[in-house]
Amino acid sequence: MRTKIIAGNWKMNKTLEESQALITEIRGIVRDEHRGGSKVILCPPFISLASAARLLEGTEIGLGAQNCHFEDSGAFTGEISPLMIKSVGAQFVIIGHSERRQYFGETNEMTFKKAKSAVRNGLKVIFCVGETLQQREDKTFFKVVEAQLNEGLFGLDRKEFANVVVAYEPVWAIGTGLTASPEQAQEMHHYIRKVIATHYTDEIAEETSILYGGSMKPDNAAGLIAQRDIDGGLIGGAALKAREFADIIRAVG
Ligand code: PGA
Repeated sequence: MRTKIIAGNWKMNKTLEESQALITEIRGIVRDEHRGGSKVILCPPFISLASAARLLEGTEIGLGAQNCHFEDSGAFTGEISPLMIKSVGAQFVIIGHSERRQYFGETNEMTFKKAKSAVRNGLKVIFCVGETLQQREDKTFFKVVEAQLNEGLFGLDRKEFANVVVAYEPVWAIGTGLTASPEQAQEMHHYIRKVIATHYTDEIAEETSILYGGSMKPDNAAGLIAQRDIDGGLIGGAALKAREFADIIRAVG
């Protein structure tokens, strides 16, 4: 059985105080309502990670960063290393989010270095792939996602890859209110699983959790999660409201 995962990507939202309030609220709802059928992960901004780790101590809720550098330390002003992320008590890191690719010039070569370094430092990676609207319309989306995986991730060996969760996030669905239909998402998730099987093994592909991201909400979560190859969600906007986030968790199980 694959692990179902609901991860909240807070992006550049919430001050320290606001994030403490939201984490406390989510922690309470999860404690009271969660039946334990999925792993919940929160990915607040870097500045909140240390305090989030303390607030989440003794709970089953995981903690992740939204990005990392690939070196452990050095003259890289403004950057944060996997070693540092690990040191505050986080267990996960999101790598290759489309906003990083689009606004910060992140390439497949960089995502690979980051993934390698994150795993070496004992973090689990939530690795994002996804096509733009243009690529969906010109029907290159399978090729684009395959290249993101081949060039940006599959350099990891089998043992390293055991620490990876893949998130399919069509860029045209992120923050737009447009969601991929369950069928569109399932088609891509199935494809991603096939590509993983081809590169690694059938067994590894079967065990890899593949999340959907892009305007996932309480009212569309159940339809998405019912698909055979969709194992959870990476939630942006709806993760910033405790009730909405909790309703998505409930829909997933
Ligand atoms: P959204 O963002 O849920 O706001 O569309 C998802 C993401 O970018 O991870």
